[in-house]
Amino acid sequence: TPKSHYRIASIPADGIGQEVIGAAIEVVNALAKTLQTFTIEFEHLPWGTSYYKGHGRYIPEGALDTLRSFDAGLFGSVGAPDVPDHISLWGLLLAIRGPLQLYANVRPVRTFPGTHSPLKTIDERGVDWMIIRENSEGEYAGQGGRSHLGQAWETATEVAIFTRIGIERIMRFAFETAQSRPAKRLTVVTKSNSMRNGMVLWDEVALEVSKDFPDVQWDKMLVDAMTVRMIAKPYSIDTIVGTNLHMDIISDMAAALAGSIGIAPSSNLDPTRKNPSLFEPVHGSAFDITGKGVANPIAAIWSAAEMLRWLRASEAADKLMASIERVCQSGTLTPDLGGNATTTDVVDAIINDIYQFY
Ligand code: NAI
Ligand code: MG
Repeated sequence: TPKSHYRIASIPADGIGQEVIGAAIEVVNALAKTLQTFTIEFEHLPWGTSYYKGHGRYIPEGALDTLRSFDAGLFGSVGAPDVPDHISLWGLLLAIRGPLQLYANVRPVRTFPGTHSPLKTIDERGVDWMIIRENSEGEYAGQGGRSHLGQAWETATEVAIFTRIGIERIMRFAFETAQSRPAKRLTVVTKSNSMRNGMVLWDEVALEVSKDFPDVQWDKMLVDAMTVRMIAKPYSIDTIVGTNLHMDIISDMAAALAGSIGIAPSSNLDPTRKNPSLFEPVHGSAFDITGKGVANPIAAIWSAAEMLRWLRASEAADKLMASIERVCQSGTLTPDLGGNATTTDVVDAIINDIYQFY
């Protein structure tokens, strides 16, 4: 059978994004060379805050068409200390997610052997959750405005947008994801007590879609109660679906509960596969550790593994995950996980593991 060949757009962008994407590319190249089951080529796109400072915009004209010519994208982080975050985020990441309709943001959360949850309620079994975030509308639709600037009565609105189409497609994706996992359990998170329009539509659509998935056991939670449940009863949870804002917050908390935001990956998927999907660590630019060589590269490497899985190289993805787990277990951990390894130490350990086992 002919080998699959993948062309990947690499967009490290800002801060530790540069360090962790470089690390992920090194690891994936070593994996491809060793397994010989696929070939992969990364093309560097220099988008980000330095590009913005030189060109007055974060991405060039035609950027979406450029991206469409690739099989997938691997993204680092956008955000710099001297540019307001809403400019950088809307200039780069949200300028891609929305127009490419990458409507499903998938955030697996797991502890590995060797990594530890700060929670007493999580025992040696660890956690294994799957968080599905609506990624194209909701609270981050950009609807709203400001008026009466500078007055005491200055007014700002931030309007959340919920469409039946948008809710239905993410709900279906979430039920399918839950169905594909051993537990077959889904929790639909809303805030339909105080938000009586969009969130009520979420509840209604959840009920409709659930009828097509009789083997999935599902329940509903209000988002505030969900934070309590994640901490008090972590083993009652498997797959979670919710809005853009709610899952942004819940998934950061989940990453911390699993040990560190430095290991949390995410996929921005177009489940219809019309557009290339984008894979990125959950974390940001991390100014406090940029350039120090201690950023945990696992979130980016795990994101690259999810990319391989999406590209249907799932055997390679499984092997990469097994290498990550063995390296964590061996104690080669960066400071965020309580160790003293550098980014390079972790990369070298994973590459050595790949050479040794495959
Ligand atoms: P952050 O995720 O950059 O950092 C939060 C804390 O986690 C920091 O103490 C940092 O050192 C630590 N951390 C993050 N990633 C780590 C890693 N791989 N290894 C070890 N420690 C790690 O979030 P923060 O500080 O709120 O944001 C910094 C900048 O990043 C801002 O400009 C923000 O807008 C941007 N950002 C961008 C995101 C994206 O591009 N998707 C996501 C989140 C933030
Ligand atoms: Mg976030």
